[in-house]
Amino acid sequence: IIKGFVSLLIGYLLGSANTSLIVGKFYRIDVRQHGSGNAGLTNTLRTIGKTAALFVILGDILKGVLSCLIGYYLLKDVQFAGFVSFEVPQNVGMFFGGLGAILGHNWPLYFGFKGGKGILTSFSVVMMTAPYIGLILLGIFIVIVAATRYVSLGSIAGCVLFPILVAICYKNMVFVTYAVLLAAIAIIRHNQNIVRLLNGTESKLSLKKKA
Ligand code: G3P
Repeated sequence: IIKGFVSLLIGYLLGSANTSLIVGKFYRIDVRQHGSGNAGLTNTLRTIGKTAALFVILGDILKGVLSCLIGYYLLKDVQFAGFVSFEVPQNVGMFFGGLGAILGHNWPLYFGFKGGKGILTSFSVVMMTAPYIGLILLGIFIVIVAATRYVSLGSIAGCVLFPILVAICYKNMVFVTYAVLLAAIAIIRHNQNIVRLLNGTESKLSLKKKA
């Protein structure tokens, strides 16, 4: 339990390094004051541009991967059999580290707890814990965004499908519960996007404006 908490905490501290806000400092732009007000990749692309967005992709993925790896190494030798009656996945440490990174990204310690929606960081956690599912979700996300130009719709669809695919492919209660938790966090963070999508006022992705 202590190692799980430590993994969660390290993940949270790493995740709190919200890359869109750090990169924004170099451009003297706080993306939370612009566009959708979200501290994430889409809004960085929207308000700063492609180069900044590239750093956000690298940073947000890196912190998710690092948090998962740290969690994995901290918990890899812990034996759960005998303590709990359900089967705990061998990589459960990644679950703790990854969740910490997502919580840190969304509610960052260093930026007044006002962060993003955690899609990119969640995606890196999915890639670490279930890479094939991650690739399927990425494919679906790309198709939806290409067809509708609503990034949020692609993100929400990925969130809904993630636990379903985990249930089909892994049939592990701990993993399914974890997937539902990650999906719920991300969908709740998209509440304003959902309202805008229903109103028809959600902004569409445009790659043309800024270089
Ligand atoms: O990853 C966040 C995306 O799904 C929506 O971002 O800035 O359009 O609210 P945004």
